[in-house]
Amino acid sequence: MKRSVIDILDLSVEEIEALIATAGDIIDHPAAYAHACARKKLATLFFEPSTRTRLSFEAAMYELGGNVLSVTDATTSSASKGESVADTARTVSCYADIIAMRHPKEGAALVAAQSASIPVINAGDGGHCHPTQTMADLLTIRREKGAFSNLTIGLCGDLKFGRTVHSLINAMSRYPNNRFVLISPEELKLPSYVKRDVLKEKGIPYEQTTSLEDAMPELDVLYMTRVQRERFFNEEDYLRLKDSYILDAAKLRNAKADLCVMHPLPRVNEIAIDVDGDPRACYFKQVLYGKYMRMALILMLLELGKGAGV
Ligand code: NCD
Repeated sequence: MKRSVIDILDLSVEEIEALIATAGDIIDHPAAYAHACARKKLATLFFEPSTRTRLSFEAAMYELGGNVLSVTDATTSSASKGESVADTARTVSCYADIIAMRHPKEGAALVAAQSASIPVINAGDGGHCHPTQTMADLLTIRREKGAFSNLTIGLCGDLKFGRTVHSLINAMSRYPNNRFVLISPEELKLPSYVKRDVLKEKGIPYEQTTSLEDAMPELDVLYMTRVQRERFFNEEDYLRLKDSYILDAAKLRNAKADLCVMHPLPRVNEIAIDVDGDPRACYFKQVLYGKYMRMALILMLLELGKGAGV
């Protein structure tokens, strides 16, 4: 039975643990996985810009000994001729064993999964969700903080359009005793459906503020985000809001000594480069962890294990 991952909640807490365990084993024993996906093909269908996510999927597949087929630009694919996502997914199912897809429209990955005969992984659908970024985030939190509970998590920046934020809140809401501090300008607050369906529904404590400085001292994790220019209706609003929060070394002086600073990247101005050398800066480790979690996910969805393919 083929299985797709569209939302982080498509994976149970137990499956997240299994993926973290596999990622850890890959980190410790990469050679044991070097041929696990031999003769398998991953198709990366990216109809929206990406550096990290696409290359991370492709590097993951190569490190598993598999191959990659890639659409990197919507204008060079049949989508520009008007082909539906459903037809594209059905077609690619004839060539590949698994699809990773990014699309500007919310719900596109789900439509693809319904038509494809192979597993589809959502690599970001509009402002909706981005489960594999969340998997990278989870491995980072586990490795840096040791656990997924008893944490005060600050989410800062574009909480309205930031799909990584929505997926991370969903994921962390399944673990006990966490608290969220939602730091954003008024116009970029967390959508009410996330507040209602996740935070209020599960009785998870949260507060909303516009001040990063006020929130800083209590945070265990600080998740900075880029203002999502491509989802704005007008440039004027973007320009007014784009530099709402800039984390720099001075602001970190009031932070906990073991704060974990994260960012899904790309950063524009949200984190000054004087933070990069701080031991609390975890955003480049997060990139690396993303590759290992994607390797683990590909193996899980293709029902392959260590040593397979040899
Ligand atoms: C994020 C995305 O695409 O949503 N990037 C990523 O996948 N690492 C965040 C962003 O683009 O701001």
